[in-house]
Amino acid sequence: MRVLLVASAFNSLTQRVHTELRGRGHEVGVELALGDDLLRARVAHFRPDLILAPMLTTAIPEDIWTEYTVLIVHPGPKGDRGPSSLDWAISTGAREWGVTVLQAVAEMDAGPIWASVPFPVAACGKSELYRNEVSDAAVAAVLLAVDRFAGGVFEPEPLDYRRPDVRGQLRPYHSQQYRRIDWAADDTATVLRKLRAADSQPGVLDELYGREYFLHGGHREDRLRGIPGAVIATRDGAICRATVDGAVWLPQLRRRRTPGGPATFKRPAVDALGSDLPAGIPDAPVTPAEAALRDTWSELQYYEQGSVGYLEFAFAGGAMSTGQCRRLLAAYRQASARPTRALVLGPARDFFSNGIHLNVIEAAEDPAEESWRNITAMNDLVEAILTTTDKLVISALAGNAAAGGVMLALAADEVWCRESVVLNPHYRLMGLYGSEYWTYSLPRRVGAAEADRLTRATLPLSAGSAAEIGLVDRVAAGGTAEFRDWVRREATMLADAPELESRLTAKKQQREADEAVKPLAEYRAEELAHMRRNFYAEGEPYHQLRRNFVYNVAPPATPAYLLA
Ligand code: COA
Repeated sequence: MRVLLVASAFNSLTQRVHTELRGRGHEVGVELALGDDLLRARVAHFRPDLILAPMLTTAIPEDIWTEYTVLIVHPGPKGDRGPSSLDWAISTGAREWGVTVLQAVAEMDAGPIWASVPFPVAACGKSELYRNEVSDAAVAAVLLAVDRFAGGVFEPEPLDYRRPDVRGQLRPYHSQQYRRIDWAADDTATVLRKLRAADSQPGVLDELYGREYFLHGGHREDRLRGIPGAVIATRDGAICRATVDGAVWLPQLRRRRTPGGPATFKRPAVDALGSDLPAGIPDAPVTPAEAALRDTWSELQYYEQGSVGYLEFAFAGGAMSTGQCRRLLAAYRQASARPTRALVLGPARDFFSNGIHLNVIEAAEDPAEESWRNITAMNDLVEAILTTTDKLVISALAGNAAAGGVMLALAADEVWCRESVVLNPHYRLMGLYGSEYWTYSLPRRVGAAEADRLTRATLPLSAGSAAEIGLVDRVAAGGTAEFRDWVRREATMLADAPELESRLTAKKQQREADEAVKPLAEYRAEELAHMRRNFYAEGEPYHQLRRNFVYNVAPPATPAYLLA
């Protein structure tokens, strides 16, 4: 079928639906919802059999939904209506929620139901839930709805609140009035629910040191205590605030835009507060190994099980600043010095990595210099992985990766992916040549021609397609918890296998042979020569593209690479 995806942004779910439908042989077009007339023109040109909206925040014009079947993905169970479904699910403490595929009609979210799939609500922020459980349920519901539509006989179910399985309701926009934290009264569980329901957008509006900020993220702290609402500690750019019965960590803040003032964007909390943060607030460091045993916030955790070490990293939005790369490198060095036989890298859930930290770069006094520092730190980390020859290194991707984040994963000996993962192995959309030794690791996996195709096409790739071309080694089905169990089983098996010694010997020899043909330093120097131009030369598009990304500037029309 010809399926036109209409979306407010080519976001993770839209990318996932795109890869899944293409993988099933459908011809898939994408149109960003940037105006009714642009949409009408695209529909007339594309002549879809079906229009599908995986993530749409605006209405489809009536003349389109009367002529075509338009299916809308709604992140709520049957009967749920309104623009803030997930916010309500989290803030009301729902344990199970759903995704429903509805046909577009005049009344928002009230059309006949084509499919509805439930999912468990994990204890995490809204966007993490969206990229994991919601996304998996949405894809299942979309595939069901598309099959039903293609079958031609399915009668969608009219919305009828008398049916016992229609348990949702129409709910209002989840405005800041519902989100406000009363630090003198709200307990930690309440504070966390409010923070999670607002993460990553729009954040919880609050005041700190006389200024208004949106609070982003939210993690429990097990030990530190203080006066409710007060900032009592910092750690790796995050701040810790006391509650009435505990404390929470806030990794990021966004200053509220003042009327007529410049737009603002999320930054590490300590950076956002700047000189407003009073001197004397103690730093509360925690080592990755300690963090794995505690219930506190840390971007890094390290633990061992048998002969395998696990270095988990979790960076907000998958973005890795200079400091974050350096901290991860230090943790990697420590982990690789341990007497383990294998080392598994990657977060337990959500993004593996999306490369250098564009927000931190944007906020820097000299963004070109900071870009350089960031890519240098990233390269140091990748180099350390590439040159580890005394143990097997495995990248385990429970969530998506893009740009340098994909290349970071490829530095390992094996790359394992959860089936739901979407990969964007390219840099062009940010106007960058790219580094992270990709000119070494990408062609060695997929060959020069495929590497060229992947980096030029700038399209997302499903884990399954990535495995077919050898970009990744293994793919496992299931949710993040099942994936982690599977990774542990398989990693233990590999680490304990008698063949490991010969495998490590072969790995060492291969590295030496590769080094003799062309040293890693040469790959790095060549890539960085391009990156230097991207960062410093006149007329390069990178700085503008980065600004558009950080400030979330919508393009004037659907970009050409999506029109094919
Ligand atoms: N730097 C800073 N922030 C980043 C980031 C990066 N490299 N990559 C993602 N983020 C942030 C996004 O701004 C977004 O923030 P929000 O929660 O405040 O909205 C969050 O992470 C999630 O990203 P989003 O774009 O909403 O997710 P997605 O799944 O729809 O799309 C990507 C994922 C990776 C395709 C998209 O984020 C992207 O293109 N990132 C940039 C990749 C890149 O060019 N890196 C630099 C070169 S190495």
